[in-house]
Amino acid sequence: MHGRYLCWAIRRKKSYIGIDVVERYISEGEQRLGELKTPSDQCRFILGSAEDIAAIIHPNDLGVDVRRCLAFFPFNSFGNMPNPKSVVKSLAQSGLPFCISSYRISQKATECRKRYYRNCGYVGIRTSRSRSGVRFSSPDGLSTIAYGPTFLREMFATNNIDARSMPFSQVGMAHLSSKLFMAANK
Ligand SMILES: C[S@@+](CC[C@H](N)C(=O)[O-])C[C@H]1O[C@@H](n2cnc3c(N)ncnc32)[C@H](O)[C@@H]1O
Repeated sequence: MHGRYLCWAIRRKKSYIGIDVVERYISEGEQRLGELKTPSDQCRFILGSAEDIAAIIHPNDLGVDVRRCLAFFPFNSFGNMPNPKSVVKSLAQSGLPFCISSYRISQKATECRKRYYRNCGYVGIRTSRSRSGVRFSSPDGLSTIAYGPTFLREMFATNNIDARSMPFSQVGMAHLSSKLFMAANK
């Protein structure tokens, strides 16, 4: 979006690249950067799709080893992407360690999500559960899925990615490349 974790990154003196497919969010992010007076070599925004992450992120431009970077997919953004298989393929090509923040597919998580989408103002919300996971959709444009473990395992295995899933809070599920998983459990 417009830099959901931008301030978090700045406070911790991390370099930050924000990517989104929506031009308005990228413009808002750039405006925030201007207001925060952050050096442009430390933080920037790029209009583009996560499907092209390997083409967008050039290891030589990062200034650090790619293994010291984190591709973070906040707030179920991954579950909003129409071509998750292309995203994972590109992620594998990029060599970036990653954390995909999503939801569990439990009854409780599904009920919480339903309340949340209703509060967002969506009308006529439909819930469907399949082998892929739990999807919410509506005639006014909602389409979001929390993927289930089997679907994710297969998608990661196809791309030779070693990843684990880790529950967090009451309804969250994070899907992490294995090196991160081990660090998080130390
Ligand atoms: C912040 S998430 C919202 C998820 C929502 N909270 C939910 O529960 O499903 C949606 C963001 O993902 C972005 N997005 C969708 N597809 C994308 C893609 N292929 N590449 C990059 N960003 C994408 C959208 O533009 C939007 O800013």
